[in-house]
Amino acid sequence: MKRAAPADPKCPSTGSAADFLPRKIELPALAQAAAKCQGCTLYCNATQTVFGEGPANAIVMFVGEQPGDQEDRAGKPFVGPSGKVLDGALQEAGIPREKTYVTNAVKHFKWEPRGQRRIHSKPSSREIAACRPWLEAEIQVVRPRVIVCLGATAAQSLLGSAFRLTQHRGEVIKDSKWAPNVLATLHPSSILRLPDHDAREAARRSFVQDMKIVAKHLGAKPRRTESAPPGALAPEPSSKRETAAPRPPRSQPAKARAARHGRS
Ligand code: URA
Ligand code: SF4
Repeated sequence: MKRAAPADPKCPSTGSAADFLPRKIELPALAQAAAKCQGCTLYCNATQTVFGEGPANAIVMFVGEQPGDQEDRAGKPFVGPSGKVLDGALQEAGIPREKTYVTNAVKHFKWEPRGQRRIHSKPSSREIAACRPWLEAEIQVVRPRVIVCLGATAAQSLLGSAFRLTQHRGEVIKDSKWAPNVLATLHPSSILRLPDHDAREAARRSFVQDMKIVAKHLGAKPRRTESAPPGALAPEPSSKRETAAPRPPRSQPAKARAARHGRS
């Protein structure tokens, strides 16, 4: 068994973001409460909490790993190079970013110094689990039709550590407790890290393909197709709507809803 890291007296933490959840589960209150989170020790070396962003009625939620260097400084998710890749793919797939909710599995930037630079460091399973209450609360409020896990960390947080992104990437999962459709794909930064231009372009194309699968489940029309203007979001035809069980009203607690969606 792994031994717990010695507690740092200068960086106290409770072990879970659940200790900081506000009484009222709605987005502004959550963001405000998350700004003071000490659920794990990552808050000690980061500039600020980077909470999710987007409308509470967004139909799709994108979940990244953790804020990067630029996000940490800006206090907003996906504003750096990875965000540009995401924006480009959304645009090609006809998904307007302003209709999406964008967040991360872990809300603080974890990094190591390398010279003058801050290099991304992967969050541990413990940190991912400590931070999950924020993500759960965001899902509870937004209740998106589709959740997209960008990369293995988001997939681990929502689908468990046994989930293999390499095997199940792009598959639409219907029986999770989180949303009617959950899909995991590449993290945009893994595309940017590829050293070879052609490999990068191929990975970007396949990322766009996955975004088109997402668009299909939203009723969005991809760009450069017949009639719809770019960015149009058409309602899904009712015959195709995947509502095995009717979705309960927003006020219902997440646990009751989780029970309906099967696995817990
Ligand atoms: N990478 C992420 O996973 N999230 C961000 O917000 C930025 C980069
Ligand atoms: Fe809280 Fe998450 Fe930040 Fe850890 S990473 S301090 S759990 S918000």
